[in-house]
Amino acid sequence: MNKLTFKGRDIIDINDFSKEELLFILKTARKFDPYFIKKDRSNYTIAQGKIAGLLFFEQSTRTEQSFRSAAQKIGMGVIGFNDPEATSIHKGETFADTIRIMDSYADVLIIRHSKAGAAKKASEVADIPVINAGDGSNQHPTQTMLDLYTMMKEAGKIDGITVALMGDLKYGRTVHALSIALSHFSVKQIFISHPSLAMPEEILELLKKRGVDIEVLEEIPKDFKGIDFLYQTRVQKERFSDLKVYNKIKDEFILGKEFLSQLDKGVKLMHPLPRVNEMAAELDSHPNAIYFTQARNGLYIREALLALVLGRAS
Ligand code: NCD
Repeated sequence: MNKLTFKGRDIIDINDFSKEELLFILKTARKFDPYFIKKDRSNYTIAQGKIAGLLFFEQSTRTEQSFRSAAQKIGMGVIGFNDPEATSIHKGETFADTIRIMDSYADVLIIRHSKAGAAKKASEVADIPVINAGDGSNQHPTQTMLDLYTMMKEAGKIDGITVALMGDLKYGRTVHALSIALSHFSVKQIFISHPSLAMPEEILELLKKRGVDIEVLEEIPKDFKGIDFLYQTRVQKERFSDLKVYNKIKDEFILGKEFLSQLDKGVKLMHPLPRVNEMAAELDSHPNAIYFTQARNGLYIREALLALVLGRAS
């Protein structure tokens, strides 16, 4: 397979994508972004007749709705569910059977599940492309692509930037996939978390092997000088087996309104959202608080990914 062929391809694991492929996806997303394409968009029908099957076994707002919107913006129909209890799963149907059935009704499947490895398993059952929309605490590759797109759009480059990842680096699937993707670029990565929520050892090993410049901090630094992007994350309550542990550390890495002074100094604040209390609403209107723009960029990345795996991107 030509390495820049995306038609029919699954999007499961960020490790499956080279730097060249990631950059190609970012470039394709520009074709769907009104910031770059000022004229009337002509891509409303590029995937007409195709169906996106959304299988959301776990809750979502942005990922599910942006996939729904992206699919329809390029002319696709959308089927699926976001409440597995309302399907035959409730009657005891197996995961594999559900996938097999959806496989015969759709042209691409988008799956979110609380179990790590679920999207991979779905891709082994389905003949059509499967896109991982988040599998447990493992990965969230399409979020990573929109995060990279946002960094590229804001900084004009990825090579040479410094990114700090903060919050729940242990259970946060967004930061896992993002850190791996950034390791293809010459990016300094700073990890800021409570030691019990540190980046998993296997990811740190991979980064070291790739010669990535990393720094690990166990406290919020006083100054974010030299950091281009701070990527804040929510402590993933739903992944804790002991809520006492969650309650003990959940409030330790909060960005309050005093963080405005860091935004003034130029650090751009990202967050995959949803937020709980780890980022104050007072920060929202600052031009360097870019998390809502980041969420909007998800639409263009997902339009591009759907078009690419369907072989409809020009
Ligand atoms: C994230 C997720 O589901 O992993 N949200 C998202 O997709 N934008 C982050 C989170 O839930 O904290």
